[in-house]
Amino acid sequence: WHFSSYFKQSRSHSLIMESLNEAKRIAARRAIDEHVEDNSVIGIGSGSTIVFAVTRLAERVKSEKLNVICVPTSFQARQLIIENKLCLGDLETHPELDCTVDGADEVDRDLTLIKGGGGCLTQEKIVASCAKKLVIIADYTKKSERLGDQYKKGIPIEVIPIAYVPVSIKIREHFGGNVTLRMAKMKAGPLVTDNGNFILDWNFPTDKNLDWPSVNETITMIPGVVETGLFVGMTSKVYFGLPDGSVKTT
Ligand code: 5RP
Repeated sequence: WHFSSYFKQSRSHSLIMESLNEAKRIAARRAIDEHVEDNSVIGIGSGSTIVFAVTRLAERVKSEKLNVICVPTSFQARQLIIENKLCLGDLETHPELDCTVDGADEVDRDLTLIKGGGGCLTQEKIVASCAKKLVIIADYTKKSERLGDQYKKGIPIEVIPIAYVPVSIKIREHFGGNVTLRMAKMKAGPLVTDNGNFILDWNFPTDKNLDWPSVNETITMIPGVVETGLFVGMTSKVYFGLPDGSVKTT
């Protein structure tokens, strides 16, 4: 009995994963096909969805012989660009990008994003801020009315290591909620970002109607805060892959 219920559970888990991966793949494909042109500079986001975008980009670059320079937003993105034999660039040589394609943890009705589930929010925000447009690709579970409806892990905030306690206290005192230091896998100490910093995850109170532009500004002003995973007013377009195989754009 135990075995059969285990197999049923793991089978339904793998069906869900298949559906999510297919949703990510179709969203990524549409976004790359609609936003990448010859002779362009593209920011490459981080996470699991972006893998599908880079795969599609590599296909197009090869078959259409496109000249595309890719600027990574993380060590993971850099590796993906290299593995897919794409042309690697950086912000020193390409401070202006045509487009950045990235994933998100949650997208609300105003296209405000929570990002940084993978801890790469600072470089993602820098690269996005240098691009003419930020295009988001996501599966259907990321779409929500209000932040916090779908994504339950809170808003990631990158901090300078010595400041993680005072920053946590200040956020809690100012806005309420709960702030935790993100730990590395197997709890082997704090997770360290590509920039050598720590990540705080802020589980904000969902009963208050928080004004995200001012929340973002207030938190960014706390000494020791490097960047927040709140992306306000930056998104140009979102591609959501749906369970029925279609893509919804907003
Ligand atoms: C990493 C990010 C990712 O884009 C976000 O976490 C979404 O990841 P995934 O595509 O794996 O769901 O912001 O810092």
